Amino acid sequence: MWPSLRSALLSVPLFAACVLLAGLQSALAQTLDDRLAKANPAKGQEVFLRCGTCHTVEEGGRDKIGPNLWGIINRAVASDDDFRYSEALQEYGGSWELERLDEFLADPAGTVPGTRMMVPGVTDDAERSDLIAYLNQNSANPLPIGLDPELAEAEAAASDANKKRDFGLMVDAPGVEKTYALCTPCHSEMIIVQQGKTRKRWDKALDWMIEEQGMAPLSNDDREVVLDYLEANYNEDRPNFPKR
Ligand code: HEC
Ligand code: HEC
Repeated sequence: MWPSLRSALLSVPLFAACVLLAGLQSALAQTLDDRLAKANPAKGQEVFLRCGTCHTVEEGGRDKIGPNLWGIINRAVASDDDFRYSEALQEYGGSWELERLDEFLADPAGTVPGTRMMVPGVTDDAERSDLIAYLNQNSANPLPIGLDPELAEAEAAASDANKKRDFGLMVDAPGVEKTYALCTPCHSEMIIVQQGKTRKRWDKALDWMIEEQGMAPLSNDDREVVLDYLEANYNEDRPNFPKR
């Protein structure tokens, strides 16, 4: 009598916890579906600026610091034959179903401890869904997720117009978008805005970033945009030195 009473008593909270967890899980799964139904690939393309330093997404695009991401949704994990993956990602295995991709992008190192993709996650749910909808478009067989393309474009245009621009400590001036996207995957913008350099010395710093620190080479156009921005806003007179 005693043991069974005890286990009965114990199992009540356990049962409750399980119901709660199951409920929570289905709520989370639902929100991913809901989020993806409203996801906007045009906005996702902007979020992808954070990825483009290390990844191409078009068919046959080259591997950079990270592998090409064409057709990544439902693709087998770590399956780009030309790319050398970490053991951690190979062991993670399986394929990139929507849920797993969503989880990985929210917190790469937390989801796959030991991954070489050492970047902060895309923690904003809406941004992450938009990003997934964009990745989905870059595939031979896109899944039916995301907003209707016309609606999506209208929405992206409207939100561009009144978007609150947030580039952390970087001054919102021409070229900030690209500079922020290209320069913040590996370190915060703090390391940049604390500096004051002439254009020539910034140019040298970029060479150093590329030759010694693993930054992907910049196209000439991108380099011009970044240098114009840095020269104008982070020159030797330090017009925008962060205030304490
Ligand atoms: C600083 C470079 C860098 C940035 C920025 C970056 N990644 Fe990665 N990514 C990597 C590397 C390196 C790997 C391989 C990881 C490993 O082997 O553990 C990878 C792997 C991946 C994979 C798994 C690919 C496969 O074949 O299994 C996905 C998906 C991915 N990245 C998506 C993204 C997205 C989306 C972004 C933008 C939010 C992003 N990455 C930003 C470097 C980066
Ligand atoms: C692929 C990764 C990566 C990218 C992308 C990157 N950096 Fe860096 N950067 C580094 C590393 C690593 C360091 C060294 C960090 C340290 O010393 O703590 C560094 C350091 C710096 C420093 C400090 C140098 C010093 O003298 O202390 C500056 C300034 C800088 N980066 C500017 C930039 C700018 C501007 C960009 C964009 C054009 C950029 N970085 C993009 C990896 C990167």
